[in-house]
Amino acid sequence: MGVARSLQPSKPRNVHEPDATPHIGWPDNAPPVRLLTMSLRFHEIAESRHRILNPLTDDKLDLLGVICRIPAGARQLDLACGKGEMLSRWAADYGLRGVGVDISKVFLNDARSRAENLGVADRVDFIEADAGTYKDTSEPYDIVSCIGATWIGGGLQGTLSLLRPQLRPEGIALVGECYWASPPPPEASAALGMSEEVTSLAGTAESIEAAGFELLEMVMANQDSWDRYVASQWWTISDWLRDNPADPDASAMRGFLAQSRRAHLEYGRRYLGWGVFVVRPVTSGRRTLFEPVDARKRRQNRRQKAKKPPTVLVGGFFVSKIVRR
Ligand SMILES: C[S@@+](CC[C@H](N)C(=O)[O-])C[C@H]1O[C@@H](n2cnc3c(N)ncnc32)[C@H](O)[C@@H]1O
Repeated sequence: MGVARSLQPSKPRNVHEPDATPHIGWPDNAPPVRLLTMSLRFHEIAESRHRILNPLTDDKLDLLGVICRIPAGARQLDLACGKGEMLSRWAADYGLRGVGVDISKVFLNDARSRAENLGVADRVDFIEADAGTYKDTSEPYDIVSCIGATWIGGGLQGTLSLLRPQLRPEGIALVGECYWASPPPPEASAALGMSEEVTSLAGTAESIEAAGFELLEMVMANQDSWDRYVASQWWTISDWLRDNPADPDASAMRGFLAQSRRAHLEYGRRYLGWGVFVVRPVTSGRRTLFEPVDARKRRQNRRQKAKKPPTVLVGGFFVSKIVRR
């Protein structure tokens, strides 16, 4: 991503639609598919020492887990899961079961090793597939997520539409997305590889609403956590260049490092924000709290006994029914 290129790249919508625009340091004559492969390889190298492939720190990822009120036995689908840190960690902390989908064999191998190390390999599956077209035929999930890869759905709204069918009506979706923390100069967007859809924080909330979701919570990156994600890649790349001077991608990798470092220092740190937004579908009917599975079952049983409709219609509007636990 320059800085943010791996989060919001001028990268293809999916792996089969390569970006025709070469980035600084990339060979001008490289064909699109080669550029795409190089792009993925760059990120695999640059983020080889990362577990979390986004600007959240360990603390912030843990906070996100707390905020999500993950019930025991919850199921999560994570599209573009990277090294699967969120799934494996939440499987260990909350007993969650999950499926992660990514196109990178390298990241998926790391994800499987991490799951083994945390003792949760029997609870999480990692699948190599294009998340933009991945179809999961199992039961809908309690949580669906796409953290830092909204190009899989052609942007924020498209990605939310992609997540929705996989989500049970009372579930929550998590989406990690860039926004402009303050209005950027015209050249910032290109330098950082931002799509034109990226907007202000309030504009991001509007896009979430326009996609038919309600914003419930959020955990935001800050300048320090951006540095942990971006600046920590520089040393990794520098070491790789020192150890692999004859690699055919070495020169392009050097250009990638120079461009991404410059873009972060000049624009990213100052103008670019990023956060994980916790959202749920707005339905025309009832909205329920994201509540523990046991409480949900008890409520269903009560309803069956009472044989009452789950929603109350007042003045032409459905209103939320208060959930009694
Ligand atoms: C910024 S990283 C985020 C990874 C992970 N969600 C996290 O936050 O740690 C973007 C991820 O998207 C993956 N990716 C890019 N295009 C994809 C696609 N079309 N389908 C599946 N994964 C994709 C990359 O391999 C990478 O792991």
